[in-house]
Amino acid sequence: MKKIGILTSGGDCGGLNAVLKGAALMAESNGLELYIIPNGYAGLYNLVDRDNLVKLDLQRLDRFDASFAGSEAGHSRVKIKAIRNPEKYNRIKEGMKKFHLDGLIISGGDDSGSVMVDLSQQGVSCIHAPKTMDLDLQTYSVGGDSTINRIAQFVHDLKTTGKTHNRVLVTEVFGRYAGHTAFRSGIAAEADCILIPEIPVDWNIVYEHLAKRFTRRIRQSDVHSGTYTIVVAEGMKNADGSEIFDESAGIDAFGHKKLAGAGKYTCQQIQKRMKDDPAMPIFMKETGMFVEGVYEIPEVREIHPGHLVRAGNSSAYDVNFGFEAGAAAVLLLLDGKSGVTVSKVKGRKVEYIESSKAIMQRHVDLDQVALHESLGICFGRTPVAYEPILREMDGVYERIY
Ligand code: F6P
Repeated sequence: MKKIGILTSGGDCGGLNAVLKGAALMAESNGLELYIIPNGYAGLYNLVDRDNLVKLDLQRLDRFDASFAGSEAGHSRVKIKAIRNPEKYNRIKEGMKKFHLDGLIISGGDDSGSVMVDLSQQGVSCIHAPKTMDLDLQTYSVGGDSTINRIAQFVHDLKTTGKTHNRVLVTEVFGRYAGHTAFRSGIAAEADCILIPEIPVDWNIVYEHLAKRFTRRIRQSDVHSGTYTIVVAEGMKNADGSEIFDESAGIDAFGHKKLAGAGKYTCQQIQKRMKDDPAMPIFMKETGMFVEGVYEIPEVREIHPGHLVRAGNSSAYDVNFGFEAGAAAVLLLLDGKSGVTVSKVKGRKVEYIESSKAIMQRHVDLDQVALHESLGICFGRTPVAYEPILREMDGVYERIY
């Protein structure tokens, strides 16, 4: 093995540039050369038509920071299997041959990982460095921590405006059908209510919690000010199992519905209940806010940070994990492995897992949710009692997500 290609694919996020740098630096220290395959799988498919590739040598590495989110390599959402050309795999192999690439490092999430499994089965040597802000792989993946930190900061900051206008603020966040980012950022920002796809929402329960907490806060404030914050995952469902999304958003290249509309729907459900609640105008009068015909119930507003949750800068954790995942991927390729995902590096142990298993979707642990329910956060269901199992450990450290 002398030359390796690296590509990043799927939704971009924090930590990817650290994966590129970790792989490049480990390649360099083993006498290998690492080349960028630009624009994800689209670039891999069209490699054969290119005249040259960018080598990630020390001078090129100086041109971008590991802590920038996004990827210097560029992305696309392309499913190789879906390409009609029957010669698609040969075309990819020809491209690799043209540039003497002996193997690939692919950093992506579940969809990109499934393409990587496909390529490996077609005889292309490749190693998967896990990435997804959704955190729904079996392994930790770069992007998750950065996104959680960014959302937490947004939700926290929004409280100043929420409190000033006595508004209920609903922040809708990416994450597809796993609620990890909404859950962990909501906890970090001390949100009052967190709605995740794993728990179908009973709107009466949400409203009851909101009406009690929000009105108590404003009543008890000496200047009658307060807010109530909700973090809602884009893939949230109703208690009857029905999904909440805007049909007009369309589908992506992997055939998944593009999710949109959860925040707006949440606002509508709350506003409807506020209007029907005879206690609301009484509360508004008691706190000196009621103005007939103009301001009879509090306002409920939606905030949709969208791509901001995965942009900007990476967290220090993601930069650390990214360097190690990229470096480990090179070591696994050098050892002749293919079709595996880096799990973590622990001292001298480079842990990996079969990629077909690593990309199986992981959901929020509902026992963990119960703990936070017992701390008073609403998850849109009747709170479930937290039943702890106390266990003495021998110093093993694990991350909580
Ligand atoms: O999978 C990562 C992710 O950020 C999802 O959480 C989100 O639904 C999707 O990508 C958005 O993708 P795009 O940027 O392609 O619209």
